[in-house]
Amino acid sequence: MFAYTYIEKGNFAMTDKPKPQLIDDNDAIVRVTLGSICTSDLHIKHGSVPRAVPGITIGHEMVGIVESIGKAVTKVKPGDRVTVNVETFCGECFFCKHGYVNNCTDPDGGWALGCRIDGGQAEFVRVPHADQGLNRIPDTVTDEQALFVGDILATGFWAARISDITPEDTVLIIGAGPTGICTLLCVMLKHPKRIVVCEKSPERIDFVKKHYPDVSVVQPSECKDFIMRCSEHGGADVVIEVAGADDTFRMAWECARPNATVTIVAMYDKPQILPLPDMYGKNLTFKTGGVDGCDCAEILSLIKKGEIDTTPLITHRYALREIEKAYHIFENKLNGVIKVAIYGERL
Ligand SMILES: NC(=O)c1ccc[n+]([C@@H]2O[C@H](COP(=O)([O-])OP(=O)(O)OC[C@H]3O[C@@H](n4cnc5c(N)ncnc54)[C@H](O)[C@@H]3O)[C@@H](O)[C@H]2O)c1
Ligand SMILES: [Zn+2]
Ligand SMILES: [Zn+2]
Repeated sequence: MFAYTYIEKGNFAMTDKPKPQLIDDNDAIVRVTLGSICTSDLHIKHGSVPRAVPGITIGHEMVGIVESIGKAVTKVKPGDRVTVNVETFCGECFFCKHGYVNNCTDPDGGWALGCRIDGGQAEFVRVPHADQGLNRIPDTVTDEQALFVGDILATGFWAARISDITPEDTVLIIGAGPTGICTLLCVMLKHPKRIVVCEKSPERIDFVKKHYPDVSVVQPSECKDFIMRCSEHGGADVVIEVAGADDTFRMAWECARPNATVTIVAMYDKPQILPLPDMYGKNLTFKTGGVDGCDCAEILSLIKKGEIDTTPLITHRYALREIEKAYHIFENKLNGVIKVAIYGERL
């Protein structure tokens, strides 16, 4: 089958691999009907994910149809249309029981798919712990509507959940890339008093203005002044950093009011500085981490009810065979791309 593979630093290529087989009783084999490319795939390509294993098939954003299941799988059956979670997790360890599935201690726990074990930019994928990582897609929800549930939408949902947003809050979201927009959609569900999005790219500023007219959008250069002017207590009540640029960590805490929550979703290429003397008296709460993607059933039901719609994010569509082209567009942010959808092909 076609499998887009991490060859070595700087090099991904389409390879021919055997169709994956069930290995464990908790596995499922899923035929990938639709997948996508994530910024984290680019981090692997650029060599900034040391645990990524050369030779593995890339891809951790996908939906598909269950082909076969191991003896212990009970929640899905062959023929079911499912979302696949970026994280595989056992559901039984200390961290899983507390909902911190990103820290699952199982050997396959956490972000393994498309990083440490073969992922989904392929015709088929083996999903360990299938009862945990697969969710049935309601019949009225299309593959495109469900595409981001297991990864960037789970991330936005998690970020909004841990940020403790109230209806009185002014929420600042830094970065309107695909993950920032998913975060915006989930913050909107909390109905804060005001949402401000800070973004650098004119195309993405236009995208937010067009699709979410109730949201204020600012450039980085005007962000701090704007936030100070529109908030009553010297800054945003909640700041969510989803840009990951050189100066956005500093911008995040500088725009926060005293005693605010600052949630760091972004992954940085370099260590960041926490200048505690400059921050004395701000009494901030920082929340950091990788997504705990365990709310996929709830997210799917919100999509079914029409409360979350990520389909406008899909700006480009390709077949798996053409994935090189899709990478070129996504990596270089060409032609107004937000996300690409990669359609699977049958053997
Ligand atoms: N914590 C997690 O589990 C998790 C999950 C998914 C993504 N992420 C991270 O979230 C970040 C965003 O992901 P993405 O896929 O949306 O990537 P992206 O690169 O498409 O988005 C980043 C956005 O920030 C904007 N930006 C850059 N500099 C800025 C500045 N100074 N002010 C405001 N905006 C600025 C860019 O124009 C871009 O639109 C990345 O760092 C990614 O690795 C983390
Ligand atoms: Zn991802
Ligand atoms: Zn676990």
